[in-house]
Amino acid sequence: MKRILTGIQSTGSPHLGNLLGAMLPAIELAQDTGHEALFFIADLHTLTTNQDPIERKNYVHTTAAAWLACGLDPEKVIFYRQSQIPAVCELAWYLSCFAPYPMLANAHAFKDKAGRLAKVSAGLFTYPVLMAADILLYAADVVPVGQDQLQHLEIARDVATNFNRRYGTVLIVPQARVQTGIRTVPGTDGQKMSKSYGNVINPFLPEKDLKKAVMAIVTDSTPLDRPKNPDQCTVFNLYSMLASADQSTALRQQYQEGGYGYGQAKTALWEVILDRFATERSLFRAYMRDESFVEKQLTDGESKARLIAEQTLELVRNRLGYRTIAI
Ligand code: ADP
Ligand code: TRP
Repeated sequence: MKRILTGIQSTGSPHLGNLLGAMLPAIELAQDTGHEALFFIADLHTLTTNQDPIERKNYVHTTAAAWLACGLDPEKVIFYRQSQIPAVCELAWYLSCFAPYPMLANAHAFKDKAGRLAKVSAGLFTYPVLMAADILLYAADVVPVGQDQLQHLEIARDVATNFNRRYGTVLIVPQARVQTGIRTVPGTDGQKMSKSYGNVINPFLPEKDLKKAVMAIVTDSTPLDRPKNPDQCTVFNLYSMLASADQSTALRQQYQEGGYGYGQAKTALWEVILDRFATERSLFRAYMRDESFVEKQLTDGESKARLIAEQTLELVRNRLGYRTIAI
């Protein structure tokens, strides 16, 4: 049995890309294959880009509600907030002394964000070290991530290897698992859907707002009566990721025959989102109203996570020559 671990930053409400590309496949991998799993909300990492305490609290609740609504079962998965296990910060310091500076300085995510931000903090620079601590603290074997996180996983592996070379096999060197067969979900402007591009479709929005978001998808100006190319249309692309094969074939035909407008296609997409995520949407509303239920799921998970974390940390302190901390 392997230990699977993954985290998602609580930077806003999860969107279609997060659900299809990360959350739903991770839940399936963890719960349907009988592995031991830990899923957490990376709320310490969000401090690198957002310093608003009220937003932070709201986004943690929204992200937790979304995970639970997508079917995460806290009986099967240890579900917790990164910030509630302070051991991760202690380990991050130790690991920072084993992380090669050039590797951090050359990380794509760092260079990309540093290029866009007015002020660049040391926290943004050491983001991958905290991520390595997230993984190594819980002795994870497999880490499901999107393609964009592979470099961070390489850093975590490198740090673990450096540490083990000096102190013996203490840390598990983790394997990344990139979701295969999952295409990048396009946003309303046709580029990769991302919170940072402002082009997301949030499937948990109330019906009317969801419709507005879908109607905002950019399409070309082919007149209504003319045939249209489904393969170059974001509306069709999204539809085909969510609808059944028969539904997609039928829509493809309507595009090719002409006499079918983008407005109609957008309505069809809106309906398919409502249909595909009917259960998730209603659970999400319930979890958003019941903050104490969500809080209880997290605090229960945090008690379990703390036990694993303390074990690793004790071992690491011991190998480094630090005394056990008497509490
Ligand atoms: P965002 O770009 O909106 O800030 P994150 O970087 O927080 O999203 O991504 C969280 C997870 O969701 C990652 O594993 C990432 O690979 C996945 N993901 C994000 N956007 C998409 C997308 N458009 N298509 C597929 N997967 C995505
Ligand atoms: N950096 C990841 C992201 O933005 C989130 C994350 C933080 C993570 N710590 C992690 C993912 C540990 C996997 C394992 O998507």
